Order: sequence, then C-alpha cells, then structure tokens
Amino acid sequence: MAASANIVLLGKIGQLGWELHRDLQPLGRVIALDYPQIDFTRPAELLSIVESLQPALIVNAVAYTNVDKAESEPELCDQINCLTVEQLAQHAARRRCGLIHISTDYVFDGSQSRPYTEEDQPHPLNHYGRSKLAGEQAVLANAPACWVLRTAWLYSRRANDFVQRVLTWSRQQEILKIVDDQIGSPTWARLLSQIISLALAQARGDYFEFIQATRGVYHLAGDGAASRLAWVEKILELDPARHEQKTRQVLPAKTAEFPTPAQRPLFTALDCSKFERVFGLRLPAWDQALALAMEK
Ligand SMILES: NC(=O)c1ccc[n+]([C@@H]2O[C@H](COP(=O)([O-])OP(=O)(O)OC[C@H]3O[C@@H](n4cnc5c(N)ncnc54)[C@H](OP(=O)(O)O)[C@@H]3O)[C@@H](O)[C@H]2O)c1
Repeated sequence: MAASANIVLLGKIGQLGWELHRDLQPLGRVIALDYPQIDFTRPAELLSIVESLQPALIVNAVAYTNVDKAESEPELCDQINCLTVEQLAQHAARRRCGLIHISTDYVFDGSQSRPYTEEDQPHPLNHYGRSKLAGEQAVLANAPACWVLRTAWLYSRRANDFVQRVLTWSRQQEILKIVDDQIGSPTWARLLSQIISLALAQARGDYFEFIQATRGVYHLAGDGAASRLAWVEKILELDPARHEQKTRQVLPAKTAEFPTPAQRPLFTALDCSKFERVFGLRLPAWDQALALAMEK
C-alpha cells in the first residue's frame, strides 16, 4: 500500500523541500511541485491541481520565509502562509487526506527562559510569526489528520544558507560581530526531512489513519540550543577549509546594535520531547548534526 499512495510535496526547491523530495521517495508515489506549476498566490489553480492528483498525503514545504520583508508585504505573506494553507486544509478534510505543515519557533515571543513546549502560549513578535501562527490554526481547525511541525534556525548546506553566509564572511572579514543574545535550536534540513520521513514510515501507507491518530502540534528541531555567536564559532571550528579563513576574532554583539524591520524573539529553544515520546525518534544535538553537515 505504501508504495502506491500518491504523496504531493508542495515546494521542492527550498531548504526542506529539496531534502523531502529525496527522503519521501520510498513512502509512495511522490509528485513534487514548485513554481511555475504551483503558486500559493493562486489557490484556486493550486487546489485544482492537487484535486486531480488525489493524494493520500500532502506535505507543505512552501512558505513565505523572508522575516524582514514580511513587515512590508503582509498581504502576500498572509496569502502564502495562511490563506492558501487554510484552503489546503479544507481540501484535506473533504478528501480524507493527511496534511503535514511546517511552522516555526517564531510563533513565540522569546520571553521564556526554558525551552518551549507545545503547551506554551504562542505570542509572535513579527508579521512572519503571526502569519505562521494563523497558518497553524487554519490547519488545526480544518484538517482532521494533520501534523503541525514547528522547527527552528534551518540550514541546508545548499545555496546561500546561514552556514554558507558565515563561511563567506570568514573569507572576507578579519573581525565578525555576531549577536550573543539570540538563542535558538539550529536544525539541519536534511535530518529534519529524514526524521519526518521515518515518522511517516510508521503509517505503513495508511497516512490518514496514522496522522489522525497522532494529530497535533510537535516541536522538531536540533537538540539543545545555542546563541548565534556559539553557532558561528562552531561553524568556523568545523570548517573543512579553515586555512582559507581571514577571520581572526569573533566579537559578541547585541541584537539592538543591528536594527531590522522585524523584531526577533531572543529565546526560542524548542523542547522536542513530545515528538520523541510519540514516534520514538529524536534529532541529535545541534552541534553533532552540524559536524555531520560540514563533513567533506
Ligand atoms: N528557514 C528557517 O530558518 C526556518 C525556521 C523555522 C521554520 N521554518 C519553516 O520551515 C519551512 C521550510 O523553510 P525553508 O527554510 O525550507 O524555506 P525556503 O528555503 O524559503 O523554501 C520555501 C519555498 O517556498 C517557495 N515559495 C514561496 N512563495 C511561493 C509561492 N507563492 N508559491 C509557491 N512556492 C512558493 C519558495 O520559493 P522561492 O524561494 O522561489 O520564493 C521556496 O522554494 C517553512 O514552513 C518555514 O516557515 C524555517
């Protein structure tokens, strides 16, 4: 049954979508869609394509992810992160189809000092976070078989992700100033995709029943937490071409020194023990994952 189910992956080029396109393959007939076939700003067309494919499972890896730009493009951000998602969730309800939706640590305001659990109250500080929270609520209000997976600080080792940007700065600048008052859970997109796929394999092809039985919000991020500064220092330490680095010093800075259009939560470490309890799977420590991601 597993190999014959249609799985529609929305977004196959983003950090997570790229990995999911590969990891979902053993779980069914994967139909991976991206621009120009699908556009989340045109929900009617998107829904008619999804309808024609009759998926047993929809995995949504599309999102408006530009946190700063979202402040000046709120309608576009809402359309992609919430309004179209609501229609997908309604489709999932009509067609008895499982829905996996990805959300973010930025639904929290960061005022807590212990890792956030799924029971903690969201309170986003910026428009991106508000749109993602509204997307979560739309999924939970409509889809009878859904997982809302909140992740954090994703990197992919592809294109211009955070790790690559740090490596590039290290080739150009002798001194890096990095904030030490933002704490989060760095997460390698490859391992996130793998753990989602391993959890889905437990459905043995009956995605609707399994996801309905395990329905809800889950935190799923690299184990532990680090400041941006500690993350950058680890990237530089693990850099396989360290001899190319020009950087001699990494200095701590404060978020307030780098004003950005969107306010960011300062502490968003995620407690992922619920996912481990339910599925018996956990992501490794963030620095262990980073070491694997940076191996040549
Ligand atoms: N990145 C992070 O640090 C982070 C942290 C926490 C949670 N998350 C969540 O994790 C999920 C995956 O994030 P990611 O880092 O993989 O994001 P990403 O690399 O930005 O990928 C998102 C994908 O969605 C596509 N997209 C945007 N607008 C679209 C539209 N109108 N129609 C169709 N496709 C569209 C993007 O295409 P274009 O690039 O061509 O626009 C991109 O391929 C998202 O739900 C995100 O909110 C991310």
